[in-house]
Amino acid sequence: MAQVGESEATAGGILAEAKRRRSFAVISHPDAGKSTLTEALALHAEVIDSAGAVHGKSGRRGVTSDWMEMEQQRGISVSSAVLQFTYKDAVVNLLDTPGHGDFSEDTYRVLAAVDAAVMLLDAAKGLEPQTLKLFDVCRSRKIPVITFVNKWDRPGREPLELLDEVEQTIGLRPMPVTWPLGVAGALRGLIEVGTGEFTRFTRAAGGATRATAEPVAADVIAAEEPEFWTTAQDEIALLEEIGAQFDEKDFLSGRATPVLFGAALSNIGVARLLDALVELAPPPAEREDAEGRPRALDAPLSGLIFKVQAGMDRAHRDRMAFLRINSGRFERGMVLTHAATGKPFATKYAQSVFGNQRTTVEEAYPGDVVGLVNANALRPGDTLYAAEPVQYPAIPSFAPEHFSVARCKDAGKTKQFRRGIEQLDGEGVIQVLRSDRRGDQAPVLAAVGPLQFDVVAARMASEFSAPITLEHLPYQIARVTDEAGEEALARQSECEVLTRSDGVKLAVFSNKWRMDVVIRKFPDVRFDPLLAGTVTD
Ligand code: G4P
Repeated sequence: MAQVGESEATAGGILAEAKRRRSFAVISHPDAGKSTLTEALALHAEVIDSAGAVHGKSGRRGVTSDWMEMEQQRGISVSSAVLQFTYKDAVVNLLDTPGHGDFSEDTYRVLAAVDAAVMLLDAAKGLEPQTLKLFDVCRSRKIPVITFVNKWDRPGREPLELLDEVEQTIGLRPMPVTWPLGVAGALRGLIEVGTGEFTRFTRAAGGATRATAEPVAADVIAAEEPEFWTTAQDEIALLEEIGAQFDEKDFLSGRATPVLFGAALSNIGVARLLDALVELAPPPAEREDAEGRPRALDAPLSGLIFKVQAGMDRAHRDRMAFLRINSGRFERGMVLTHAATGKPFATKYAQSVFGNQRTTVEEAYPGDVVGLVNANALRPGDTLYAAEPVQYPAIPSFAPEHFSVARCKDAGKTKQFRRGIEQLDGEGVIQVLRSDRRGDQAPVLAAVGPLQFDVVAARMASEFSAPITLEHLPYQIARVTDEAGEEALARQSECEVLTRSDGVKLAVFSNKWRMDVVIRKFPDVRFDPLLAGTVTD
């Protein structure tokens, strides 16, 4: 029964389908234009889940799904979904990363399910903090990154200065694919660096945002815009001299990034970005299992749960797990095995989810994402497989930077309280830390971003009928330690040791200064650093 579909799908068919896939996420700082770009990409493509999939915020957006009241009140998106579309012969999966100014581990986990990322920069701002954090994750996961410099229709910085910032700050060598003609705010069009071809973008007068694109011969545009043309040619010549030509190996190994310029809002450079994704970004590759053995793409079905989301459908209170397919052909109805428990998992209710839209998924291939309903037993990092057992490495958890003690408001609801905390911990919504001193009734919740506390409080009240109070703890930084650390810190102020539910002991400190003092005091004790955006264990 587990092999449904395998017989029909020839190995060649699976490999050909996998090769067409491009699965990526956009990493950016809030307001850089991620939603605008997502919409612009979708408009260029044939959105597979078509009707009304792109709509929303201010009547325009909502590419991300709004599933909690809290989100709606704040006009932010806490959840992620996947936009799938075909472009030319490719099947593109754009995995949404939560778009608010906060961090959650969800954002990071999404990056466990992509094969490439688009780093979106605001032309006036360059690299911003959230982009840097997400880039660190891409680097640690060896995800190739394409850079898109957005908002070139507005006054911004010099292109060479921006590229220099990328190289100096994150050590990623920029390889421009297109080059702007005209300064930011007075963009005339884009030059294709490889061929010298020019595309003029013209925005119609009277407020139309979408620009029209038209190829213009080099000598014509050179005569029309002599100053801009000379500057651009000088800059391109300089780039050639310093060796900024495209190098596939450097791109795929994360040492260099193709760079494109544009303005998502005016639709400038967006088609070129899609072309670059299809031409340059890698299709799904064989993924290694926990023992480091690659699983062939045409092996029987296997995949990784990278995200679990509850409450998406208020009427049904369902829990959806998102499965990134790593091998084989998925066919709805297959019965898979949940590697963590060995139990069967039926996939009758497989869906694709984008915004408020859900469609039933009949089949899927490596690189695709399938939403599994009724997935109460599934956790982020879990493996599902058909036929041949496989276990993928767990998705690492990240260094928490915010801590609060949770307490049940109503003494009569301690059972619900315990169940809820356990459930949210299992889903990976929050990390749960405990110590003998604090007791089981007052676990410490730890998060990468503070918004997670609101999510926990809202869900504890609505889903588990156990409203909670949260007491902020003045800790900001955590290190991995052991029993010796626990002993050492017992008599120190502004720090303590807490045990995470996976057994890892975390020493938490009020600030870096205090931590440095303590570490110096106990030179023989283990205090392993946990950089934000890097693995903790
Ligand atoms: P985000 O998802 O990364 O947070 O960014 P979002 O797309 O919401 O864009 C943030 C703001 O930047 C929006 O303006 C959007 O219109 C604008 N923007 C995005 N791309 C471009 C671009 O290429 N050029 C220019 N000039 N602006 C761009 P807003 O006023 O905050 O929102 P709205 O009223 O337009 O919805």
